[in-house]
Amino acid sequence: MSTILAIESSCDDTSAAVVRDGRVLSNVTASQGVHVEYGGVVPEYASRAHQRNIVPTVEVALRRAGVSGADVDAVAFTRGPGLIGSLMVGVSFAKAFALARNIPLIEVDHMQAHVLAHFAEEPKPEFPFLCLTVSGGHTQLVVVRSALEQEIIGRTIDDAAGEAFDKSGKLLGLPYPAGPEIDKLAALGRPELDFAQPDPGGLDFSFSGLKTSILYTLQRKAREEEDYVRNHLHDICASIQDAIISTLLRKLIAASEQTGLQRIALAGGVSANRELRQRLETTGTERGWQTFVPRLEYCTDNAAMIGVTATFKYEQGIFVGQDVAPAARL
Ligand code: KG4
Ligand code: ZN
Repeated sequence: MSTILAIESSCDDTSAAVVRDGRVLSNVTASQGVHVEYGGVVPEYASRAHQRNIVPTVEVALRRAGVSGADVDAVAFTRGPGLIGSLMVGVSFAKAFALARNIPLIEVDHMQAHVLAHFAEEPKPEFPFLCLTVSGGHTQLVVVRSALEQEIIGRTIDDAAGEAFDKSGKLLGLPYPAGPEIDKLAALGRPELDFAQPDPGGLDFSFSGLKTSILYTLQRKAREEEDYVRNHLHDICASIQDAIISTLLRKLIAASEQTGLQRIALAGGVSANRELRQRLETTGTERGWQTFVPRLEYCTDNAAMIGVTATFKYEQGIFVGQDVAPAARL
């Protein structure tokens, strides 16, 4: 039996969850509105907001789970990667809680946790499986041999897929984060523009050229037609989305062929994208894949995935001491 209190504070969401024997009893996330007007996350504001949010978020998570602090067997926290000031708030809280209650501390790698979010609910993928993790900070192809044996076989050499959505949206004047906005606008458009899909070879990704390609195309179109962006916003968004998703799927197919793995999972914030989910399903049907996409709540940053990952570690007695420090580039 294990009741784990889990904390996630790597970026701009303060999240706490209670996970008992691998089952999520509560998962509470306080999002920060402070970054919208700056068009991106401001690290200093993020840490201050975590500081304000962490205690109330944990209180709500415990209450919703019907658990008191005394029932908690271990505290888990995100050690990295992430913003150092943000991580520090979660790590310090977890250390203090563990010290006060004299219970073990469990460190969790944020990216490993995104992959293991699939174990927060049924159906759980059988090992081994291939996972495409796409978030605002990372784009990775991961061979998951067991919960704690994960090998990265492909990664972005520059921008992450979520960053590509966000930066492209910024060019169009969309609010941050632009990913969900582009998702919505693209649903009413057609991918009529051909944006560059640079390929660094192998299983790696590159998205930084996309911005330049969009910028040049829009500048050219603006010379031909007044108010081009405003008049064609839906088609532009559909084209951006198509360029990003086509790249992701091309590499995912290559990774599946290379590894022979046909159990395919999607993780990270970008897996909330409806077109990506739909095209994964279509591709999966064509290729005989068994596909796994977590519920939205478990795609974006959340503490449930930290608690689920920590459960695997708890079972193996993998703990850390009070001298543990956050690691921005874990
Ligand atoms: O995993 P996540 O919540 O945080 C990080 O660890 O980065 O991912 C956030 C990213 C942002 O770039 C956001 O624009 C993107 O996920 N995102 C989406 C959608 N929802 C969130 N991108 C495309 N379509 C969406 N529906
Ligand atoms: Zn994340």
